[in-house]
Amino acid sequence: MKYELTPDLLTGNALIDTEHRQLFQAINQLTEDCEKGKGRDSLKQTAGFLVNYVAKHFADEERLQTTSKYPGYPTHKQFHESYKEKLSAAVGEIEKNGPTISTLGKFNGVVAILISHIRVEDKRLAAHIKQHS
Ligand SMILES: [Fe+2]
Repeated sequence: MKYELTPDLLTGNALIDTEHRQLFQAINQLTEDCEKGKGRDSLKQTAGFLVNYVAKHFADEERLQTTSKYPGYPTHKQFHESYKEKLSAAVGEIEKNGPTISTLGKFNGVVAILISHIRVEDKRLAAHIKQHS
């Protein structure tokens, strides 16, 4: 299954949307590597890119929040912190145990959390930035 940045997930902020699109590509790449039965080294590289890219993207969003004095910053930041841990754990399990029904199921569950976050919280953030710029 390919993840797509469908219109309902667009926030209207160019940077955030571009990074979300790149994020979905990284998620799809990891899924594809798993499906193709790519070796451990290749998986590790793709997984590493995803984890690093999420960290970069969250840092960019947090910067936008502090510069625009976003009132939801503490909660949003807290979500980012716990999400990074969840993602690292799920990706780490794929690296350790390989792509199994269990590890991929867990990974997809973590992706679903991100999608819900984009749909609600990132849209709320983008609306705030638009009003305060
Ligand atoms: Fe976010």
